[in-house]
Amino acid sequence: MTKLTKQDIKLELTKNPKEKPDQSALGFGQIFSDHMFQMDWTPEKGWHNPRIEEYSPLSLSPANATLHYGQAVFEGMKAYIAKGEAVLFRPQENFKRLNKSAERMALPQLDEEFALTALKELLKVDKDWIPTADGTSLYIRPFMFAADEYLGVKAGEKVKFLIILSPSGAYFKDGLQPNKIFVEKEYVRAVRGGTGFAKAAGNYAGSLLGQQKAAKLGYAQTLWLDGVEQKYVEEVGAMNIFFKVDGKFLTPELNGSILPGITRDSIIQLLKHNGESVEERKVAIAELYEAAENGKLEEIFGSGTAAVVSPVGELFDGERKVVVNNFETGQSTKDVYEQLTGIQLGKVEDPFGWVEKVEE
Ligand SMILES: Cc1ncc(COP(=O)(O)O)c(C=O)c1O
Repeated sequence: MTKLTKQDIKLELTKNPKEKPDQSALGFGQIFSDHMFQMDWTPEKGWHNPRIEEYSPLSLSPANATLHYGQAVFEGMKAYIAKGEAVLFRPQENFKRLNKSAERMALPQLDEEFALTALKELLKVDKDWIPTADGTSLYIRPFMFAADEYLGVKAGEKVKFLIILSPSGAYFKDGLQPNKIFVEKEYVRAVRGGTGFAKAAGNYAGSLLGQQKAAKLGYAQTLWLDGVEQKYVEEVGAMNIFFKVDGKFLTPELNGSILPGITRDSIIQLLKHNGESVEERKVAIAELYEAAENGKLEEIFGSGTAAVVSPVGELFDGERKVVVNNFETGQSTKDVYEQLTGIQLGKVEDPFGWVEKVEE
């Protein structure tokens, strides 16, 4: 099959550009830019018909395979304006992860280089949609799903890949604010051998009931424990998690049921670069409770594309409550946030070469 290049992307620009939203009132994921990227896959043709076209509804059969069997994967990344230029943060990592997710869900592989080219072309078309106000960004959602009109359970043979763009507001409007996290002991998110490491749509559907339960109790997010013994910490709803215990940073190891977060990986590299001690290993919830009792649980923070870093001020499992650092954002949490957002926005040196310009 021929390799797709930038020249293959058809441009069908909208005749009705939308009004840009008020940047001071941006939320998350509700407003979409003027255009989207789309291409199709079949076993015979491979990926074909790449196009940038007006953002518009898709027409799907009621027998669409994904509506019934959930064969869908996605990514989440951001474009920012740094020193007047549109930039991306480690975008190759997102497409690499998307391919790993696709493989697990029996979806076809993308040419990662072409997917990034397509994204950059889309961003060039919609660059005025990248908001510039403090803390805002253009959220990027690449996704792939089976588009077959067929009710038999089998891997799709008509697959779609799209990229849509959504201008998003600052996650923290008044500086970093600690969250309360509910430790879930009834439901589990994923098991080893399952789909937890993939950014698969169904993982999120399966987590919603736990999320609702946490919200009813006044907790912002669920902390998932391992699916076998419910003894070890895995991750939060849409974030990985770090603990600072007795001067060292701990984060659950990637065991197949946790999403390998790109922010997680960046923070591990950053902390090590700063000379900190970081352990990726099994972290038992009992170990954390004990550390809290001994005054050694210094800080907890979540990591993910949306918030970058999100301090945790309280853990509650229905019986036991742990308040972290007097429900104040710890110094290490602040430092990691400042350093990583500083790199992303071109305000501090990027020794890792993580930031990539949309237009060279
Ligand atoms: C389940 C889950 N864990 C962790 C993360 C953090 O990953 P990343 O840092 O790549 O955004 C996300 C968000 O993408 C997620 O959905």
